[in-house]
Amino acid sequence: MTHEPRVVIALDVSSREQALELARTLRPATDWVKIGLELFTSCGPDMVQELKELDYNVFLDLKLMDIPNTVKKTVSNCMHMGVDMLTLHLLGGEKMITAALEARARQDLKTHSRPILLGVTLLTSLDRSDLPWPESRSLHEVVLDLASRAGKWGLDGVVCSGHEASGIKKSAPEDFCLVTPGIRPGPDLEDQKRAVTPYRAMASGATHLVIGRPVTASVDPLESLMRIRRELSAPF
Ligand code: C5P
Repeated sequence: MTHEPRVVIALDVSSREQALELARTLRPATDWVKIGLELFTSCGPDMVQELKELDYNVFLDLKLMDIPNTVKKTVSNCMHMGVDMLTLHLLGGEKMITAALEARARQDLKTHSRPILLGVTLLTSLDRSDLPWPESRSLHEVVLDLASRAGKWGLDGVVCSGHEASGIKKSAPEDFCLVTPGIRPGPDLEDQKRAVTPYRAMASGATHLVIGRPVTASVDPLESLMRIRRELSAPF
């Protein structure tokens, strides 16, 4: 059975005012937003709190990749900020991922959130020509391999493109999150390469769609989001 996925709006802007205006405008149509590197480096951790006050679930997409000790402490700090979802690069390896999971297990949930921890497979802005490893390894194979490690290591899900979601879903645990950026309702891909339509991402089993510019850069962001929602609830 296909479930309607959550829609997560990527607030990729550099000002607090712009982020909050978008968040207020879009709140009738979604309860998830994503803070990425652009917004976090311009507005800092206070942004998490401000978006939580608007009753949003906050996905902090810092795509962590560092030595295990640094990642462990950073995950604790993110939990202290109250984030609901967090990303780590799977290429950071098993020890780094284990350190992140340990940090989550150790925190007091009265003072910290318990975020969904996601592994980033390969960015949706990459294709085969961007990868340094031998031609014999397809990008699809690499993504599936990384996703299966994410499950084995104990993460709650992965970030992948809509092209790989159905392959990952076949061998993933029942409640594994498949979070897909690179969503394009129309033909303009911008810097994304492995893009799919919202409907196709849902049909391939995505649990969360991450959508930025098709909504945030449109003339009428709420109407663009509502159009996507209508596409998602259309019968097969
Ligand atoms: O504007 P657009 O819809 O392309 O935004 C996609 C968002 O998803 C961006 O915030 C980007 O950082 C994020 N993302 C991605 N590919 C990944 C992981 C995250 O595009 N593999």
